[in-house]
Amino acid sequence: MTPTPSSADAPSANLSQDELKALVGQAALQYVEPGRIVGVGTGSTVNKFIDALATVKARIAGAVSSSAASTERLEAAGIRVVDADEVDHLGVYIDGADEIDGRGYMVKGGGAALTREKIVAALADRFICIADASKQVTTLGAFPLPVEVIPMAARRITAQFKALGGTATLRLKADGTPLATDNGQHILDVRGLSIIEPLAFESEVNQWPGVVTVGVFAHQKAAVCLLGTAQGVQTLIF
Ligand code: A5P
Repeated sequence: MTPTPSSADAPSANLSQDELKALVGQAALQYVEPGRIVGVGTGSTVNKFIDALATVKARIAGAVSSSAASTERLEAAGIRVVDADEVDHLGVYIDGADEIDGRGYMVKGGGAALTREKIVAALADRFICIADASKQVTTLGAFPLPVEVIPMAARRITAQFKALGGTATLRLKADGTPLATDNGQHILDVRGLSIIEPLAFESEVNQWPGVVTVGVFAHQKAAVCLLGTAQGVQTLIF
């Protein structure tokens, strides 16, 4: 669907990327439903949202978190964290993105939390994406695509991406050992892909044996994107 024309809520010329993240984090409060549990994503933009959420914490019933890092930040802010498995349904899930296209399809997982992000997003009626303008793309794939994998399948999955024209590399920590996700699995980052059909691509890669989650969010796409731009917060509705 073509996004509806966006509107700028406030001027923000000369704001840094960090300030744009804070702006959209604050703007996301308008989607937080009083008395309900809100789904909370992961990343530097979401950290700004959590900071804003802390100022209205008495108005919400709690949060479902998509990562250990966000849980820690939410609890430090005095916000009750509810396990995803104790919740049937959420009204909104608020999270960042590494890329978002003109249809609300996203690439996520730069922070390695993609599996839990997809699980919490699937509980929600609406995915509210918060992002600075650098995340807006025409075609997904320039950002290395994160894929969470069972370690014993990494070599074969790497070969499968090679057949699609992609180069997958194992994500490492600073000490050179493989990064382990909150789920104890590994991340492949895949470069060189141009993801023209995100829905079909996500469906295909998801059924490769050993893939836990592919970082294309097409089946759980954004309903709304609050985009931080030099002209202010633009609201894109998909
Ligand atoms: C976490 O795994 C990711 O999906 C993040 O949502 C995404 O990387 C955006 O992060 P930033 O807000 O830090 O750019």
